[in-house]
Amino acid sequence: MKKQNLDENSPLASLEEWDDDVLKRYPEPGQPAKDKSEFRNYDDPEITRVREFYRLNHKYQTYENVLAKKANFLKFDKMEMPWWSAMDYLNQLIDESDPDLNLDQLQHLLQTAEAIRTDGYPDWFVLTGFIHDLGKVLCLFGEPQWNVVGDSFPVGCQFSNSIVYPELFADNPDSRDERFNTKYGVYTHQCGLDNVQMSWGHDEYLYQLTKDYLPEPALYMIRYHSFYSQHREHAYDHLLNAHDQEMFKWVDKFNPYDLYSKSPVQPVVSELKPYYEDLIAKYLPATVKL
Ligand SMILES: [Fe+2]
Ligand SMILES: [Fe+2]
Repeated sequence: MKKQNLDENSPLASLEEWDDDVLKRYPEPGQPAKDKSEFRNYDDPEITRVREFYRLNHKYQTYENVLAKKANFLKFDKMEMPWWSAMDYLNQLIDESDPDLNLDQLQHLLQTAEAIRTDGYPDWFVLTGFIHDLGKVLCLFGEPQWNVVGDSFPVGCQFSNSIVYPELFADNPDSRDERFNTKYGVYTHQCGLDNVQMSWGHDEYLYQLTKDYLPEPALYMIRYHSFYSQHREHAYDHLLNAHDQEMFKWVDKFNPYDLYSKSPVQPVVSELKPYYEDLIAKYLPATVKL
């Protein structure tokens, strides 16, 4: 039985419920969303919690919210610690709901990274798999779930109907703001994603933490790994430039490892730690400033 989270700002029993819902929506690699009527059972309390999560996410992820969160979190003045300690810190976000396949955060990261390593990709790609969800530490700074996880999407222009639960954007004040509610909003044709503000969450935050240290394809994977309306439905081709399109080939390579590498066979952390400590030392500074 899943434990009900009583915090009305954070309705999910755990952050994993969002990941699980994404997997239900995209059960096949590379394919667009499964028709929601095929799998949404609204009597299921988990579905109710996920919908409530998206109600808050779609209502409050405004252009102004993104600028405010950047102003706060991009000061990186909360904590400083070695990268591995930050991974341990993230692991305080233990999933208490505990069905068979629910892993702690570190296990999800190790399984993602190990699957990438098994397929023979370069070590920076493996490292990307290992750290890609570290931005979820935002939750430990008191951020509500809707400002940490959820599908990411551009703000400052019309919300696409390809985003999950698009009807819930009706409560977002940007939907009624004529600066933001047209197809292009504050942007121009194929202006490039670097000029586009994405909804705030763990993707953008980790990108900002790593942008000086990792190769560009890794940064695209980190920054856009939850941008499902683009990588599955191509909903924002009018904002991507040619370079973004090229780089999204890497996002597409990364995505199946994030979604489909979950396994009940859990990697042994102590055996893998030396390899990952070396990888961190090769690419990242000794400490991370959160
Ligand atoms: Fe993620
Ligand atoms: Fe992930």
